[in-house]
Amino acid sequence: MTFIEARGLSKTYSPRGAGPVHALDGLDLVVPRGTVTALLGPNGAGKTTTVKVLTTLIRPDHGTATIDGIDVIAHPDRIRPIIGVSGQYAAVDENLTGFENLDMVGRLYHLGARQSRARARELISLFDLEEAQNRPVKGFSGGMRRRIDLAGALVTRPKVLFLDEPTTGLDPRSRLGMWDIITTLVGQGTTVLLTTQYLEEADRLADSISVIDDGKVIAEGTADELKASIGGQRVEINLVDPADAPVAFEILRRFGSSEPTGSLEGRELTVNAVDAPVALQSILAEFGARDIRLFDAGMRRPTLDDVFLKLTGHMATEEDQDQDHQGGKAGRAGRKKPGKESGKTATGADSGTNMANKDEVGAAS
Ligand SMILES: Nc1ncnc2c1ncn2[C@@H]1O[C@H](COP(=O)(O)OP(=O)(O)OP(=O)(O)O)[C@@H](O)[C@H]1O
Ligand SMILES: [Mg+2]
Repeated sequence: MTFIEARGLSKTYSPRGAGPVHALDGLDLVVPRGTVTALLGPNGAGKTTTVKVLTTLIRPDHGTATIDGIDVIAHPDRIRPIIGVSGQYAAVDENLTGFENLDMVGRLYHLGARQSRARARELISLFDLEEAQNRPVKGFSGGMRRRIDLAGALVTRPKVLFLDEPTTGLDPRSRLGMWDIITTLVGQGTTVLLTTQYLEEADRLADSISVIDDGKVIAEGTADELKASIGGQRVEINLVDPADAPVAFEILRRFGSSEPTGSLEGRELTVNAVDAPVALQSILAEFGARDIRLFDAGMRRPTLDDVFLKLTGHMATEEDQDQDHQGGKAGRAGRKKPGKESGKTATGADSGTNMANKDEVGAAS
């Protein structure tokens, strides 16, 4: 049953001294009750703008949105009591302790002193923040801030939770912890709309994924459906000598079923194959005959990265992930182009690869 429904949402910003920015451009979205939907997209795709519209923080220029049958634009006052929001940047009072922050949220929602404190204690325990509860938030690590912010969104036991990039900037352990919490909440019946740049996160948490780019949904379905939509397997090779790339490229083209991807100066090349084992054998035999040495060669199923590449012509790089873990959003400038030795573009089960800014990373051909 539909719980959140958005139709034709548009929002254009006109920043001073610059042309108009179409943050949302006819975005449609349906989230069934009790499920997790992921909005997956690169920087500037319109994820936060969508969350802001649905959480009554901004009004769209056009379009409609309902949550539990209530019109978000006409009745924001009826929406606010049933939603919880954890924004892209944690909204916490730096000078209050973890406990005081949660207690304050309870008071703001008129829970009353006793109930507010009881709920704050419950959430401190749920989020494993006992040690930090009496320390001012300004001394918290990024992961602790994120947890206290999410705890704040849960004070009123909302029916629906909006999580805007809940794990960006978290280390792998904190990320797993956050995933567990989200999974538990969903198990208790909460409907979740989360935004992410992490392909693996969407794959792991979401029942349904809406891939967004330039303010609209460009594909949707389960992770498996999205992967199936581009069909076939991939053959990947990693050359010892990048000088072999042009010849290797031709060999992959001959035995694969698509145009190979990877750079002509790089070491990593990938091609689709209808029958990947046969294609890989032929490719390896040809490489052997021509004395082309390899670091690595293998087959894999398509990833969401491949889906995104197919849909938009650009994809993710591993470098983003490292930068995110180290420095959050600020670290994303100057990322590496795909095709470098360490820039493996496949999303392995534990790689946590995320989307790159499309302006900076073009798909190598
Ligand atoms: N207040 C604003 N004024 C002007 N432009 C804005 C404003 N808010 C968002 N935008 C622009 O709208 C577009 C969509 O922004 P949005 O924040 O929704 O992207 P996002 O998908 O959340 O990206 P990110 O992954 O970087 O958080 C971007 O081009 C952004 O620069
Ligand atoms: Mg955002």
